[in-house]
Amino acid sequence: MTRIKKIGVLTSGGDAPGMNAAIRAVVRTALYNNLEVFGIRQGYEGLIKGDFKPMTSFEVSNIIGKGGTILFSARSDEFRTEEGRKKAYDQMIANEMDALVVIGGDGTFSGARIFTQEYNIPVIGIPGTIDNDLYGTDYTIGFDTALNTITEAVDKIRDTASAHNRLFFIEVMGRDAGFVALRSGIATGAEAILIPEKETHLQDLEAYLEKGYQNNKSSGIVIVAEGDKSGGAYTIAKQIESKHPEYDVRVSILGHMQRGGSPSAFDRVTASTLGVAAVEALLDDQKSIMVGMVNGEVTHVPFNKTIKNKKSVKFSYLHIHEILAL
Ligand code: F6P
Repeated sequence: MTRIKKIGVLTSGGDAPGMNAAIRAVVRTALYNNLEVFGIRQGYEGLIKGDFKPMTSFEVSNIIGKGGTILFSARSDEFRTEEGRKKAYDQMIANEMDALVVIGGDGTFSGARIFTQEYNIPVIGIPGTIDNDLYGTDYTIGFDTALNTITEAVDKIRDTASAHNRLFFIEVMGRDAGFVALRSGIATGAEAILIPEKETHLQDLEAYLEKGYQNNKSSGIVIVAEGDKSGGAYTIAKQIESKHPEYDVRVSILGHMQRGGSPSAFDRVTASTLGVAAVEALLDDQKSIMVGMVNGEVTHVPFNKTIKNKKSVKFSYLHIHEILAL
């Protein structure tokens, strides 16, 4: 039998739509199993400061459809230090908190892994980031909603692009990875997709655009991942513009709108499933893992594994794009 009686839940790093649905699932699963559950505000910052509040079932009513996170989020520099983590541990002891569920991305899990190693505190991670860049899970919470938000925005930009015969470079999020760009590029029928995982050759892009124009395309959309090595949408747009004054070029950076909004049904279901799985993993004496989804099934991935390995984008999507963007 497990000895866990009281757990804490926090959200950390960049917010993502569906984090609230995950909080709700964690709280209700804990209560269902007669555990006490505390919400920790502002991620690891709140853990260090003891910014806790007891969570009831009512506290998480009507949050499943809300964007952002009711527990607030932060990136904590102090938690990166031994002193910071000691303070966090002392707060947990003082409040008789036995275990944690942390919702976030790789930075969140790196902190959790060190904390578990130092203090033997069980911590379970739930993948929450629009970037979908975590190894060991097909989806992270927020990715699907962000794709839908981007698709809606790009469809609208496409109207202007066609009305004015313009070439738009649209930058989407993804500091280190092209998952968001690749999928949204396919979903919006973009003429070209630039991602950090594949080197961008200006002449290839030019040839591609040229072909489109020869095929009587009146407008163009190039989706650029924020982390693309060519330097971002502005840089690449300038290069194309200077070599091709015949193109009427515009740039649009979608920015933080991609992180907001009500989560999609898919993200709500994923968040609910993983929230339940996280608490059940704690009750099952798991200590230092992320709960993920692979082929529709819940998986347990050691933090070590998800942190050390790099998830690969599906290069087959580039092939699909090449065929469809003609
Ligand atoms: O959540 C991850 C992410 O969306 C990255 O793709 C992006 O670079 C980053 O967040 C920006 O976050 P912030 O503005 O909060 O630093």
